[in-house]
Amino acid sequence: MVWMRIPGGYALVTGASSGIGRACAKLLASYGEDLILVSRDAAALAQLADELQNEYSISARVLISDLSVPGAARELHKRCHEAGYRIDTLINNAGRGLPAVPQYAQDLDAAVSMLHLNCTNAMELATLCARDMAERGKGRILNVASTAAYQAMPFAALYGASKAFLLSLSEAMHAEMKSLGVIVTAVSPGITDTNFFKYGKPNIPGWLYPLITPGMVARKALSALMRGRPCVIPAFRHWLIARIALCLPRSFMPAIMRQIEIRRKGILKK
Ligand SMILES: NC(=O)c1ccc[n+]([C@@H]2O[C@H](COP(=O)([O-])OP(=O)(O)OC[C@H]3O[C@@H](n4cnc5c(N)ncnc54)[C@H](OP(=O)(O)O)[C@@H]3O)[C@@H](O)[C@H]2O)c1
Repeated sequence: MVWMRIPGGYALVTGASSGIGRACAKLLASYGEDLILVSRDAAALAQLADELQNEYSISARVLISDLSVPGAARELHKRCHEAGYRIDTLINNAGRGLPAVPQYAQDLDAAVSMLHLNCTNAMELATLCARDMAERGKGRILNVASTAAYQAMPFAALYGASKAFLLSLSEAMHAEMKSLGVIVTAVSPGITDTNFFKYGKPNIPGWLYPLITPGMVARKALSALMRGRPCVIPAFRHWLIARIALCLPRSFMPAIMRQIEIRRKGILKK
């Protein structure tokens, strides 16, 4: 894949301190992109910025932002604008899950804060960047959704819903913006080996649903973005299962997911 730089601007990566965001930042740096690295972890971002500047002779800025706070995306966009950083590529990646409990038992404050991170701020940042890009007639936005977007997710109900929101938003924006020279792509990884699973990995056999690396997700995602695709699922078996889920009755996959979670945690007695 040949990555074509848009000269003069930056690639902004949210959630660049670890996992998929960090892998995207490294790959973009290897393509010669100047970077704006965003997360809450100043030390991790400063270390990454140093590493990438030394290795690839690019410029890497660090912006600290808690994207689970209402208004954080608008504030981030304003800070970039005031500093004169033009965002030509947005990697809208920061996100998290919640403990695997039924929705009725979910802590509401944690749930709302996750929605600000996974949905509201991601939408606001994508919208503000898309508006600037539409004016310039070029730009790229990668939204990091999940295979959880393709079917309802018992015990991860809100996380699945948040990723379905982002996938749908992304695909609609793709159709709206392609003719304006702006590409919007959603990447939907399956289980990826990152810090994401602090609440425990789903207990699915690897031969059926393999664990993939953040580097692989970054490569497939940036390649799909460069090729102007609306969406991509990086691993073949994850893609196959998502496609099968779309063909089955709506209740089928949630019933399977429920069984998997019950076995993993003994969440419900029946
Ligand atoms: N791992 C998987 O299996 C998987 C599968 C499908 C989709 N995804 C999606 O991939 C994306 C990246 O996750 P990951 O797997 O790479 O997990 P990760 O290693 O935990 O990375 C999450 C990133 O998001 C940032 N983040 C979390 N809360 C934040 C907040 N309030 N404000 C700003 N940044 C915040 C974290 O930075 P700080 O903690 O430094 O702020 C970190 O850089 C997420 O959107 C996730 O939903 C992951």
